[in-house]
Formats: sequence, C-alpha cells, structure tokens
Amino acid sequence: MVVFTEKKALIAYLSNFKAQKKTIGFIPTMGALHRGHLSLIKKAQKKNDLIVVSIFVNPTQFDKKEDLLKYPKTIQNDLKLLESVSCDVLFNPSVEEIYSNNIVSEKFDFDGLEHEMEGEFRTGHFDGVGTIVKTLIEIIEPNKAYFGQKDFQQLQIVKKMVRKYRLNVKIKGCPIFREEDGLAMSSRNVRLTKAQRTAAPFIYKTLKKAYKKFNTENVHSVIEWVENKFKKHPLLNLEYFTIADEKTLKTIKTKESDKKYRAFIAVFAGEIRLIDNIRLKS
Ligand code: PAJ
Repeated sequence: MVVFTEKKALIAYLSNFKAQKKTIGFIPTMGALHRGHLSLIKKAQKKNDLIVVSIFVNPTQFDKKEDLLKYPKTIQNDLKLLESVSCDVLFNPSVEEIYSNNIVSEKFDFDGLEHEMEGEFRTGHFDGVGTIVKTLIEIIEPNKAYFGQKDFQQLQIVKKMVRKYRLNVKIKGCPIFREEDGLAMSSRNVRLTKAQRTAAPFIYKTLKKAYKKFNTENVHSVIEWVENKFKKHPLLNLEYFTIADEKTLKTIKTKESDKKYRAFIAVFAGEIRLIDNIRLKS
C-alpha cells in the first residue's frame, strides 16, 4: 500500500493509472477502522482496478468540539487492517493540507434532506460532510465512491450533491455491517463502557421489533411503542426514532403503498451517540 499525506503527490500518482484507463474505487473514512469499513473496501475491489481509502477526521462536520477531540485515532491498527485487505492507496492528509488556514464549511442546499433527523440534531454537520466529500472527490476523481447505509442520510445527501454539482462519480450504497449481537459497527463503539456495550444491541433489537410492528400497526403506535421501550431503559437515552420516506427523508404520518420507508434511530449511551436504521416493508 502506498500512503500519501499531500494531495499533489497523490494526484500525480493517480494520473498514471487514469492514463492507463484503470478504474478507481474510493472509500472515504475518518479512520478507527473496523470490519464495516473493510466491507466497503471489499465491495469496491470487485468492481475497480485501484482502491483508494482516505482517513481524515474532518473537523467541520463535528458540531461538538468534545466529540471531535475524543474521536478515536488508531492509525497503526488502521494501517494493518488496510494492508490485510490489500488496499492499494491510503490518503491521510493533515487538516492544513485540506483546509489551509480556513477551517470552515461550504454552505449547501440539499433540497431539504439536510434539515431532517441528523441535520436537526447536529447543526452544520452535513455542510461539513458535503465540503469534505466534494473536496476529496475533486482531488481523487474516482469512478465510484462507496458509502455505508449505516449513515443512510449521509448516503442520500452525497448522492444529491453529486447530481446537483454534476460530479463525475457513481455513488454506491453498501449494507450495514453488524457485530454478532446486532450492534451496527461504528468507530464510536470502542468508547462504550462494558455495561453500555452490553446494553447497546437493544437498539437493533428494538428496530427489528419495530419492523414487525410496522406490518400490522399504524406509524404513530410504532413510534410510541419504541419511545416507551427507551423510557424504561437505564443506560440508553433515545434522541429520536422516526419513520421516514427513503427518498425525501421526511417523517411520515401514514403509509402509502408505493413508497419505500425506513426507520431511523439515534441513541445516547452516556455521551456516546449511536445511530442505526432499518428498511421497512410497506
Ligand atoms: P466514517 O464514520 O469513518 O465512515 C466511513 C464510511 O463507512 C461511511 O460511508 C459509513 O457509512 C461507512 N460505515 C461505517 N460503519 C459502517 C457499518 N457498520 N456498516 C457499513 N458501513 C459503515 O462517515 C464518515 O466516516 C464521514 O462522514 C466521511 C464520509 C468520511 C466524511 O468525513
């Protein structure tokens, strides 16, 4: 694996491959890699000649300074994991290399997608995500870029950005990779205490029950049921549970037959925020 910290050197390296008409698959990450990230790399390897992964803890997408400071950094282990799956190129720039001295986001209009769910609770988050993803895509110019459905809203927003800005890249969504007990893999999971980690699979268990209930009950009663389940939980605090249209991400009140719906959840275990979602059958 070749590691670059400077965009100029990376661009020069990649131009050789592009000249040979080789295809590039790109997986942006913030590091603290786990098997969820690796599943994206493996998927990309099936369809591309060269795999580029970026590790960059993007300051502009964190609404809380504390969360940015405490974001896990495990670069030595990340390098090992990337080597173990035969990743070709790692781009691991400094904040200065990406932002110079101006650490601010571009302002985006994602046709309202940015105001729902995560957007409501994490001010400016998607401007930060849009800024870094657009910057990285412009540097790397990949043929395809891979994003997890774990961050479903992010995936939809990136797709929207690519369409709006006519970026020449195909965005591929990948399934949520889970621990054996169902907890969605996340870089933040390592920050959970033992008790919180034991409690956390409750999130996906509740989502699966909500999935079943959605077949027979109305939207309001499913939401009320989930909210009540969390009210009783000693370690997990529900921030939101909502059922939304997959395309518009707008919360729904009633089901319509030809629409695709998903349930979305955000939960605090102490100060650690965990998100998950599940596709619903309508
Ligand atoms: P990060 O949280 O490191 O995630 C990088 C990519 O891995 C994202 O597309 C995310 O959805 C995916 N991912 C994380 N956990 C996953 C899991 N359990 N199963 C499947 N995919 C998973 O998301 C970000 O970084 C950043 O916002 C980024 C896009 C890199 C921009 O800074």
